[in-house]
Amino acid sequence: EKGGYDHFMLKEIFEQPSVIKDTYRGRLLADQGIVRLGGLENYIEKFTNADRIIIVACGTSWHAGLVAEYIFEDLVRIPVEVEYASEFRYRNPIISEKDVVIAISQSGETADTLAAIKLAKSKGAFVYGVCNVVGSTISRETHTGTYTHAGPEIGVASTKAFTTQITVLTMMALRLAKAKGTISQSDFMLYLRALELIPNQVEEALKTDDKITEISAVFKDARNFLYLGRGYNFPVALEGALKLKEISYIHAEGYPAAEMKHGPIALIDEQMPVVVIAIKSDHYDKVVSNIQEIKARKGKIIAVVSKGDTVVKEMADYVMEVPHTTEALTPLLTTIPLQLLSYHIAVMLGRNVDQPRNLAKSVTVE
Ligand code: M6R
Repeated sequence: EKGGYDHFMLKEIFEQPSVIKDTYRGRLLADQGIVRLGGLENYIEKFTNADRIIIVACGTSWHAGLVAEYIFEDLVRIPVEVEYASEFRYRNPIISEKDVVIAISQSGETADTLAAIKLAKSKGAFVYGVCNVVGSTISRETHTGTYTHAGPEIGVASTKAFTTQITVLTMMALRLAKAKGTISQSDFMLYLRALELIPNQVEEALKTDDKITEISAVFKDARNFLYLGRGYNFPVALEGALKLKEISYIHAEGYPAAEMKHGPIALIDEQMPVVVIAIKSDHYDKVVSNIQEIKARKGKIIAVVSKGDTVVKEMADYVMEVPHTTEALTPLLTTIPLQLLSYHIAVMLGRNVDQPRNLAKSVTVE
């Protein structure tokens, strides 16, 4: 049932090219310039008339929500707030019928996310679900929604659910941007084509697995890790750190790279591996200077770079390459090496990768 892989997590990481394709199949028709989500078509105006979008989720799904915040604000120009469901539900939040809530959940059973949905509905908000498990409680409690087609995710560490959630949220943003007129036809086409290429590019990113295994062997005994990224890749840094801590039990923190100088830089010495997402993007030069700051303090740099990069390659101790895509879609690629890094480190440490201690696949308690 693990399809020849040692663990479900590895199998699920390697399934990403096909499940991303399954998730956009029939919904994204790049040649025809169409993106269409069944659950969204009748509710487009709910979104385009909304004052605000509030995303509620937990854990990895919350990280997907953060990526969505960047893409929705960028393309659809509607203010977005991303909330931990567990905080939102207990906060007496200001929410009304002018708000649209997107609830993201792989399992569709997370107790806090479900409670946040019920609260939002009781205040008159329209609630859209992005779930993986068909017929799950959250998929039934939401007004409408879109399923990710990741297939069953067995490993406690969420991998393919994350990239398929981002795929759905990206398609939503594109459809809504088109409806709202906040995207040019040429940009719209560019995104559609770029999204269509992602499965092959994920496949390519997965080919660096051997190299990542070698890097993992070098750093497996580190006690701490820092993960840094900017813009669209700040949530990826958070997700990379979460993946490492939950399956390897190594302490890891994710930060926006620019926050370094406001505290975390004090942690850096020759013992500290720093994973930096340094792909070609609008932030590239800024990330390069963040890397220089880390190097000056003797931190060890493991960088995720765009294929063909030379500048960061010179500076970093190790690099993991991903293909080039348009910036908004980069999380779908930069996530891959970070999943593999945490997987291999955990395996080398003899951890129970698929069922890490103290964790359950779906958190149905509050
Ligand atoms: O099923 P959900 O997406 O609602 O689950 C949310 C979190 O419990 C989940 O993402 C958790 O953080 C994972 N173990 C992360 O790998």
